[in-house]
This record gives sequence, C-alpha cells and structure tokens, in this order.
Amino acid sequence: MVIKIAPSILAADFTRLGEEVSLLEKGGADMVHIDVMDGHYVPNLSFGPMVVKAIRPLTNIPFDVHLMMDNPMEFVDEFIEAGADSITVHAEVLPHLHRSLTYIKNKGIQAAVALNPSTPLCVLDYVLQDVDMILLMSVNPGFGGQEFIPGMLQKISELKERLFKANSNAIIQVDGGISLKNIRQVTEAGADCLVAGSSVFSTSDPAAMIRLLRDAGSK
Ligand code: DX5
Ligand code: ZN
Repeated sequence: MVIKIAPSILAADFTRLGEEVSLLEKGGADMVHIDVMDGHYVPNLSFGPMVVKAIRPLTNIPFDVHLMMDNPMEFVDEFIEAGADSITVHAEVLPHLHRSLTYIKNKGIQAAVALNPSTPLCVLDYVLQDVDMILLMSVNPGFGGQEFIPGMLQKISELKERLFKANSNAIIQVDGGISLKNIRQVTEAGADCLVAGSSVFSTSDPAAMIRLLRDAGSK
C-alpha cells in the first residue's frame, strides 16, 4: 500500500512560504497540512484563513486544515472560502460531534476528526461512518518538533481494527514526531497518511524527503 504524506507548513520558513509550498508540489506531497492554533485550545498561535487564501493559488495540492481551536465551527466557512479541501476538528471541544462533521461534509469538502494522545477511541464509536479521515495526534498538539509518543502505536492498531469492524472507509492520519526513523512502524500499525513538519522542512531538500518518507513508509 502506498501511504500519503502531508507536510505541515508549520515548520516552513515563513519568510519564503510561497517557495516552500512550491517545493511540496515538486516533491509530490499528497496534501498540504495547515496547522491552525488559537492560543486557547493549544498554547501557541499560528495562522488563519488569510494565509490559507494567500497560498491557495500556488498549488493544486489539496489543503488539509487542522483546526486546533476551542471554537472551530465559527471558522469553518471562512476556511472553506479560503480554499480548504478538508477540515479536521478536535473531538475534545465539540459536544455535538456528529452535527459538526455533518456540517462540514454538507459543505462539499472532506470532514475529519482529531484526537489528542490521551483521548480514548470510544468517542468515535458513533461517528465512524460520518468521517473521511481520523487524525490521531502522536504528540500533544501545539508545537512542531516534538518526540513521537510510542504508546500511540497501539492506539493506531486499535483504531484500524475498529474501522475494519465498522466497515468504515475512513483513513487514519497520524500527526506529530514522524521521521524516517519511525515512519515504517507507524504505517505497519495501520496509518494511511502521515503528517510531517520538521522532518520535511529541516532538510536541505524537502521535495526529496517527501519521496523518502513515502518510500520508507509504504509496504
Ligand atoms: C502539532 C501539529 C503538527 C506538527 C507536526 O500541534 O498538529 O502538525 O506541526 O510537526 P512535527 O512533524 O515537527 O512533529
Ligand atoms: Zn497538525
């Protein structure tokens, strides 16, 4: 199986963001992962819809917008207008998760749900048919460049099993601390799509690193 690579522009050089996005295109990235942080849900701030809109004309690669926000639903429409192809919301902040995911899907884009490392999988039990993608955080969200939490391998396998049993087509995305060293283990556990921030942008050749990661993680 060929896995998908979603480089996170959180680790890009912001003084040349446009060129960095073009490099992702050159490297054949499957999605551009855009980490939106609000300073409440996570202890950091990043970018909003204006930045998404500014880089949208630079590539046709789908934009995968990960909303680390207390009030994501207040911004979904703006991110769609700015060019999001998929929107990921965190289960921890949404009491009406089914309603939120249905809202996003009804807008004609892909809907995804994210879980922090300590959030149990059972919160997804009744939405497995309503999501296109499930993002398992493999670090505590808020910062790039953190270490992968090893206990998440078990969580990925358990989710794979649950999706199989529920006959769900949702793909599993894993986000945080992915590198050439661990990508194979993570995909063997069941991940289909890997977010990679620092491992892509800290190299001198991000385009080549995307291909290396995909090869290393594909079976
Ligand atoms: C963390 C973000 C991640 C992060 C990944 O809050 O959701 O997408 O940028 O960065 P690395 O690959 O450096 O862990
Ligand atoms: Zn992310």
